[in-house]
Amino acid sequence: MLRIEMLNVYYGESHILRDVNLHIPTGQVVCLMGRNGVGKTTLLKSIAGLLRPKRGKIHFAEENITRRPPSQRAARGMGYVPQGREIFPNLTVQENLQLGLEALRGKGHTVPQDVFELFPALQSMLSRQGGNLSGGEQQQLAIARALVARPKLLLLDEPTEGIQPSIILQIENAIRSLKEQRTVSILLVEQYLAFAWRLADSYYVMERGSIVSEGSTEKIDEEIVKKHLTV
Ligand SMILES: Nc1ncnc2c1ncn2[C@@H]1O[C@H](COP(=O)(O)OP(=O)(O)OP(=O)(O)O)[C@@H](O)[C@H]1O
Ligand SMILES: [Mg+2]
Repeated sequence: MLRIEMLNVYYGESHILRDVNLHIPTGQVVCLMGRNGVGKTTLLKSIAGLLRPKRGKIHFAEENITRRPPSQRAARGMGYVPQGREIFPNLTVQENLQLGLEALRGKGHTVPQDVFELFPALQSMLSRQGGNLSGGEQQQLAIARALVARPKLLLLDEPTEGIQPSIILQIENAIRSLKEQRTVSILLVEQYLAFAWRLADSYYVMERGSIVSEGSTEKIDEEIVKKHLTV
């Protein structure tokens, strides 16, 4: 579904991503881990098209999209849930969800009912302002907003960050249901390791902008966790 080859991304003069290779097979959940500031969000933004790589390629659904703008990536089935959620605080829950349909560029007009099966709490909040929701509710809204456009690939940037355990569990269950439906591939950036292990098929670990370890989550080794992930 996604194949990244030798990606190099800079902020001005600072070289952030270095020769990154990453592969997401169709229908799988892949987690990307690493300590603060190693470049995880930079990679997600580059995949979504918000940053332009200096070198390297991004293939999405069999197409080279390296030079395509974010709107075209969204239209081709890429859903992005940014770190910190970025919902619109002054719009209602309904309006926030409706904005997710923009990715379809006029091809979808109604919010599909099944997003409320994944996040039932949202149904009773449709007329509330986004900014008045709790952090966990906003995270659910942000994921639901990406899902209304029926993405083939969902990019999730630290969905458990700053969220209480009961809601983390609801988010985990929603991601598990998506995984079972096998219609969406997921790239999950996560520092809550147990959460990532429970959901992901495979993992990548990043350090200072490079991938330093990768493999199946069934075979993750304690040494890797100690060396690259614990503080
Ligand atoms: N807009 C920017 N301009 C310049 N440097 C930036 C910018 N955004 C991020 N950086 C730098 O790029 C590096 C990678 O940042 P990034 O946000 O990708 O890390 P991260 O792994 O997502 O961290 P966290 O776990 O804290 O979210 C950091 O050194 C950061 O300071
Ligand atoms: Mg980040």
